Amino acid sequence: MTTIVYEHADGSESTILAKPGDSVMRTAVLNNVPGIVAECGGNAMCATCHVYVAQIPGLPEVADAEDEMLDCTAAERGADSRLSCQLPAVDGLRVRIPETQI
Ligand code: FES
Repeated sequence: MTTIVYEHADGSESTILAKPGDSVMRTAVLNNVPGIVAECGGNAMCATCHVYVAQIPGLPEVADAEDEMLDCTAAERGADSRLSCQLPAVDGLRVRIPETQI
């Protein structure tokens, strides 16, 4: 069982069971987690799935395309910024959703 915790900007949390193979973005969208817009459907072309996440084992490094798109986030980019569409659902992962995506 893979569980992801989404921390909302207001301090509340949503704990969601992810399906194997789904991304952090897709898990959020399928479960109506607010704050993940995902306009491009997961192609690393919109930056509206921005989250803050601590690097843990099992997460890929930031690829060039993701790095470029992270410069376009609506909320300030941090050292822990990622595109949730590029993150696999890893058990125990906690992501913080920014106040705005647009
Ligand atoms: Fe568009 Fe992630 S869904 S960049």
